[in-house]
Amino acid sequence: MSLLEENQSTDLEKIVGLSRRSFISAGALCGAAMFLGGNLLSRSVLAAAVSEGNSRLLGFKSIAAATADTITLPPGYKASVLISWGQPLQKNAPAFDPSGNGTARAQEMQFGDNNDGMSLFEFPGDKNRALMAINNEYTNYQYLFPHGGQPQSAEDVRKAQASEGVSVIEIQRRRGQWQFVQDSRYNRRIHGNTPIRLRGPAAGHDLLKTSADNSGKKVLGTFQNCANGMTPWGTYLTCEENFTDCFGSSKADLQFDAAQKRYGATVASSEINWHLHDPRFDLAKNPNELNRHGWVVEIDPFDPQSTPVKRTALGRFKHENAALAQTNDGRAVVYMGDDERGEFIYKFVSRERINHRNAKANRNLLDHGTLYVARFDAGDGNPDHPKGKGQWIELSHGKNGIDASSGFADQAEVLIHARLAASAVGATRMDRPEWIVVSPKDGQVYCTLTNNSKRGDAGQPVEGPNPRAKNVYGQILRWKTDRDDHASKTFAWDLFVVAGNPTVHAGTPKAGSSNINPQNMFNSPDGLGFDNGGRLWIQTDGDSSNAGDFAGMGNNQMLCADPNSGEIRRFMVGPVGCEVTGISFAPDYKTLFVGIQHPSGGSTFPEHLPNGKPRSSVMVITREDGGVIGA
Ligand code: FEO
Ligand code: CA
Ligand code: CA
Repeated sequence: MSLLEENQSTDLEKIVGLSRRSFISAGALCGAAMFLGGNLLSRSVLAAAVSEGNSRLLGFKSIAAATADTITLPPGYKASVLISWGQPLQKNAPAFDPSGNGTARAQEMQFGDNNDGMSLFEFPGDKNRALMAINNEYTNYQYLFPHGGQPQSAEDVRKAQASEGVSVIEIQRRRGQWQFVQDSRYNRRIHGNTPIRLRGPAAGHDLLKTSADNSGKKVLGTFQNCANGMTPWGTYLTCEENFTDCFGSSKADLQFDAAQKRYGATVASSEINWHLHDPRFDLAKNPNELNRHGWVVEIDPFDPQSTPVKRTALGRFKHENAALAQTNDGRAVVYMGDDERGEFIYKFVSRERINHRNAKANRNLLDHGTLYVARFDAGDGNPDHPKGKGQWIELSHGKNGIDASSGFADQAEVLIHARLAASAVGATRMDRPEWIVVSPKDGQVYCTLTNNSKRGDAGQPVEGPNPRAKNVYGQILRWKTDRDDHASKTFAWDLFVVAGNPTVHAGTPKAGSSNINPQNMFNSPDGLGFDNGGRLWIQTDGDSSNAGDFAGMGNNQMLCADPNSGEIRRFMVGPVGCEVTGISFAPDYKTLFVGIQHPSGGSTFPEHLPNGKPRSSVMVITREDGGVIGA
């Protein structure tokens, strides 16, 4: 989700259909950068190398910021396209139609729009085959429809719904290069109208029943799928983030209750407007439909006929991603962020242990367990590297003051209104939690807090892991569980990096922490990933104006950090107007898959056709010498 989701869009942006997404000013594109927009994907752009520290983990030279409409990489690296929005997944599916005249049915058979989080699943017994599950977060009406504006019919809405969800694809390594396999029997779209089951403690609750489903257990669709998780038993978790934005009301004076308000319900969604042509999204007619979204959805990519399952035990909020870990006694842990200003960080701990010998025995492991929310102390106040302690507070009916007296009739209501329950127990309001990852080396957990321009507002104290009143740059939080056990209810936290701009501001916090310098500065960290060497990869979804507070930062980018030394180097810069989001590695870590979402603002990435449309794409990054990425 773009930084610009903070309702900063202008009327012009809405008219052209880009709405809240990154909208780079023409002035930010220097002439030289525009000329670089040619077809350079077959080779790396040799960006100027800068001096760097002594990390032995980071084996590449940090590159300069860039504003080119292409992928910029260190010397010795190259990029190509794996798949782009609209790619037919089967040979009998219609080809991508850049005019926007393709039908909803065609989009249901094509790769979805605005790819985000993704996971790679090794194919049993064949190291040259794999499946990838890739989220398709939202769509840009400017490019989706020939009229370029809001949906004008039920067919338009259905096409938009078809562009979101998840794409499952097979990839194969041929002549050393991973490629998309059209016509694989595993290729599949899961979208805004796919039948999905609700399971766990909230399934069947009255708040989940609608006129179309009086069981409260069968829902149509998943949409606004942000980032992801991958379970040790080989399933994919897709996270429903800004689902409320898809709803509106035909009744202009419709009044919302506290829960609906807390989840952001409005009469007129600012841009998506499905309710105008699909009554399922009309809150005046189907208020409970809203409660059937905002969950983590589990998908078995190896069974194309399987029905995805929404796991209500993990709570309902604007889910960013889901990071898996394991307690010392073998139970599953899922760390999750709720990406909205002042919202929370959660963890789920399963009741049963993971069965590592029989994957199918874990089929419903995520239906039973305990949900917690994080509370952080004020920390030591160190401006450069604050640290402190924290605890996990249980969100169970009958505990910690969560009961009928505080407005929760049962555990189902606690889960459906997880935000309200978390507020009731005094959880810490965070600077928009985005991705969470767990280090494969030492089990420390990292979470991007992307930005929060309203931290100074009432109820959001400027302290602890959220140390800035007007936080336009973001930070990366890290915590270490006590007793080295993810079951522990206490932990120690510190800020791994406080982003800033030392060329515009002097001194922490605006200049950033001491591991930020003019050569690696960035804003709005979002996507995160670890490789098996322990390198921490950081993706940004920030202000790419390259001006003001963000002068010298260029386009959105991907950096790589040494978690031990704290050193950070810029590894990749994305094309104009994009967000870099979604990361996965081939099993040998010699191929990196990176998502480029919503190139825009004059971009024609990746094809660079005259007057061509930009297309979100998954990129394949390799080294020319065939080595391990980043080493
Ligand atoms: Fe879809 Fe919070 O990013
Ligand atoms: Ca973001
Ligand atoms: Ca994100």
